[in-house]
Amino acid sequence: MTEATAKAKTFSERADELEHEQIAALDPIPQPSAIYLSGEHDPTKPMPTVTQKPGQYFLMGHDKRLSRMPPQPTLIDFFKQRFFPATHVLQSARLAKLAGHPEKVVLACLLHDIAIMGFIRCDHGFWAAEMVAPYVDEEIAWAIQAHQVLRFFPDPANGYEYPQQYIRLFGEGYRPEPYIDRLYDKMRNHKWYITARLITVNDIYSFDPNVKPALEDFTDIIERNFRQPEEGLGFDDSASSHIWRTINWPTRFL
Ligand SMILES: [Fe+2]
Ligand SMILES: [Fe+2]
Repeated sequence: MTEATAKAKTFSERADELEHEQIAALDPIPQPSAIYLSGEHDPTKPMPTVTQKPGQYFLMGHDKRLSRMPPQPTLIDFFKQRFFPATHVLQSARLAKLAGHPEKVVLACLLHDIAIMGFIRCDHGFWAAEMVAPYVDEEIAWAIQAHQVLRFFPDPANGYEYPQQYIRLFGEGYRPEPYIDRLYDKMRNHKWYITARLITVNDIYSFDPNVKPALEDFTDIIERNFRQPEEGLGFDDSASSHIWRTINWPTRFL
């Protein structure tokens, strides 16, 4: 290759680069939601504005900073592509399985914190229950909602003490809100109380760090107990489709 060809090639490469930069500059603009910025941004003030360049639009689909989900995403796809490492719920499900609990308890343990892992922390039991309700036995969804409440109330007879973790996280004097107390009063006598209580019993945080269960260990239980919609989660028009879509496309403008 002559020196002149080398220079020409460099020039053409540079032109390509510039073109890529220009195209990148026109990428659709991802827009974080108000709740995503709330606190860092005063929610009573207008959202920070992004200036559109000519020919540029706001994002109305896939955010290229995330891995693209398949067109008909399954629960497993969400575990792999949108939920943060699932060690905690996998360990909970493993303990439930080792203790010989029914498959619905194992699945409840596997799903109990998916809202924290991929959506919203506040009232995570309620959100997770809503997400899975169309696809699982009613008892599983009820127990997932209830675990958030029951975690605050010891039940030594069933092997559950108030978590030391909560004392470290929230302080000695923390008391749950009155809505949690009211729900506890209803839940403690519910016919599915023990199912929810078993989630809390298996919901512990410190285990052998060498135990790392694989999601594949639970594929058969998921297949038998989670009614995966053919159209994919988010596209089946169920009562919680919108939540799955939001997790898939968290920065869509609308
Ligand atoms: Fe939880
Ligand atoms: Fe948990």
